[in-house]
Amino acid sequence: MTERIVLAYSGGLDTSVGIGWLKKETGKDVVALSVDVGQGGEDLESIRQRALACGAVDAVVADVKDEFASEYLMPALKANARYQRQYPLVSALSRPLIAKYLAQTAHRLGADSIAHGCTGQGNDQVRFEAAVAAIAPELKAVAPIRDFELTRDKSIEFAAEHHLPIKQSKKSPYSIDQNVWGKAIETGFLEDPWNAPIEDLYTYTKNPAEASAEGRDVVIAFEQGVPVAIDGEAVTPLQAVERMNELAGNEGIGRIDIVEDRLVGIKSREVYEAPGAVALIAAHEALENLTLERDVARYKQDVENRWSQLVYDGLWFSGLKVALDAFIDETQRYVTGEIRLHLQGGRATVTGSRSTASLYDFDMATYDEGGTFSHKSARGFIDLWSLPSKIASQRNAAVAHPVETPQPVYVERSKNHSATQHREA
Ligand code: ARG
Repeated sequence: MTERIVLAYSGGLDTSVGIGWLKKETGKDVVALSVDVGQGGEDLESIRQRALACGAVDAVVADVKDEFASEYLMPALKANARYQRQYPLVSALSRPLIAKYLAQTAHRLGADSIAHGCTGQGNDQVRFEAAVAAIAPELKAVAPIRDFELTRDKSIEFAAEHHLPIKQSKKSPYSIDQNVWGKAIETGFLEDPWNAPIEDLYTYTKNPAEASAEGRDVVIAFEQGVPVAIDGEAVTPLQAVERMNELAGNEGIGRIDIVEDRLVGIKSREVYEAPGAVALIAAHEALENLTLERDVARYKQDVENRWSQLVYDGLWFSGLKVALDAFIDETQRYVTGEIRLHLQGGRATVTGSRSTASLYDFDMATYDEGGTFSHKSARGFIDLWSLPSKIASQRNAAVAHPVETPQPVYVERSKNHSATQHREA
């Protein structure tokens, strides 16, 4: 049997041409795999048919939206996961799941390699290949655009020459990746970080300036860190994300515009919209404020940051990430209760929280007379708490060493190139 490659197939121009291109470059048969993580648009069956029409020997589709929400988005929510404190890891979360299905399909259909349509400049190539390396180390990875110089022009030419059934609608100048957790938009005029995003980019969110003046309230119920009901109606993890995308998107919540540190070393300008993710994380964090012990909450912030970096960096299946998951799951034991959010004008504001597992003690917290907090104990506590500082201060005064401060050396910097050069995606 001819050797086989399983290609992650989106149905777009690049991966459609990728089928024939891989065959030409490697001599191997290509199996197309399309994994639906909620990218919207076309139905899976027409994508499958197109793959076959483009020369795939087999084409497989999988709707994994529920698995994506339960096994990938919920851990991210429990981790309040954001890279650079803002980006909720939209694309980074889908790659390991797609990689898992690539590996499974390769095993099932006897392929020795997997392939993807990423360029050599981004994070996604690393995520696909690092994930496959971790779960199916015997598989090889190839990327037609990166490894066999499949440029955009060559793609268009190849598609025309071989009469591939691809609608060549006017090419969007942006590189877009989307799933149920949100949408990532890059390249085009956004490559100049001074250029403001335009309204056309956004499809998950209304313009906050045009959203309703009064906004709306929503109550989200969580059980052990996972949303289980919205406004009293039971939801699955996928339904929770979809419903919050709609509610928060309508109020213009979740637009993010950052200069991001990519794993491959460059900075890139990224625009995202993730209304459900932003609103759910705000609610989840508020419930943690009510239910986590102080030291657990403080320590968890470091874990969240590290978790987000690992996932951003393509290390979903790494030992450290898995170990941090165990820590995070343990912290969620009492994260059960309800949060009221007010959604309005691009913001999700927490306006109420309650939980049967709350650590908030009204009698301790009240400033009214009759509170149970021991004001007397506070004095003794402060005496001992500040004792090390007091002793050190006395020592410093007694042993006064003027420390010589080194002077900074100033070097003339060459003129910076401005970011006006333009390149098509
Ligand atoms: N920069 C983001 C990330 O690394 C988004 C990547 C989106 N991918 C794409 N092909 N447009 O997660």
